[in-house]
Amino acid sequence: MLPAIADRRSIRRYKEEPVPREAIEAVLQAGILAPSSKNRQPWRFVAATGRAKAEALGMMAAGLDREARRPLLPESSGYLSGARQTLAVVAQAPVAVFVIDALSPDPRSPQTPEERIYSLCNAQSIGACMENMALTATAMGLGSLWICDTYFAYEELCTWLGGRPAAALALGYPDEDPPPRPRRRISDVTEWRS
Ligand SMILES: Cc1cc2nc3c(=O)[nH]c(=O)nc-3n(C[C@H](O)[C@H](O)[C@H](O)COP(=O)(O)O)c2cc1C
Repeated sequence: MLPAIADRRSIRRYKEEPVPREAIEAVLQAGILAPSSKNRQPWRFVAATGRAKAEALGMMAAGLDREARRPLLPESSGYLSGARQTLAVVAQAPVAVFVIDALSPDPRSPQTPEERIYSLCNAQSIGACMENMALTATAMGLGSLWICDTYFAYEELCTWLGGRPAAALALGYPDEDPPPRPRRRISDVTEWRS
């Protein structure tokens, strides 16, 4: 087992200490090295710190307010309070890397089966990119939080980012050391066939 895989945790408390640009670039480079469907590399990054991160937070907060009034995701309203907690984590983390899916069609429009599968492949590619970044952050002594609550501000972040938000990664030096979260056993999730 690679140490970073065993040691990685979702970090939700960060020190104020800024993260050097070179460290952020090392994390982004690890993301870029991820495999992707047809080597399409659907990701684009907006690495936000300081005022830009505050602007993004404003967009995320506006999205949560709008979801309460005019929801894009009505069946997910039970997760809105959790999303507010995620917002507080982003506020505290020195860096937020927003990952754009530059290739998939707009999920708000009807899609053909092929478009859906194309989007699923792009989403898997972005997942690989996210995991590479999270593991590299761990190996470098940084903490990270993989965030999809950004979907609650889909419209707002589309405007702010100039592209379709897929996920975000909060980054910074960890100010907590959480225990491993529970996982299912191999035997619970695997059917062996031979
Ligand atoms: C696709 C994805 C989206 C996630 N979105 C959020 C989020 O928006 N907010 C949050 O606090 N955690 C989020 N997480 C973190 C998970 O809650 C976390 O990975 C899980 O509880 C296991 O804990 P661990 O990462 O410490 O092992 C997300 C994780 C993944 C993989």
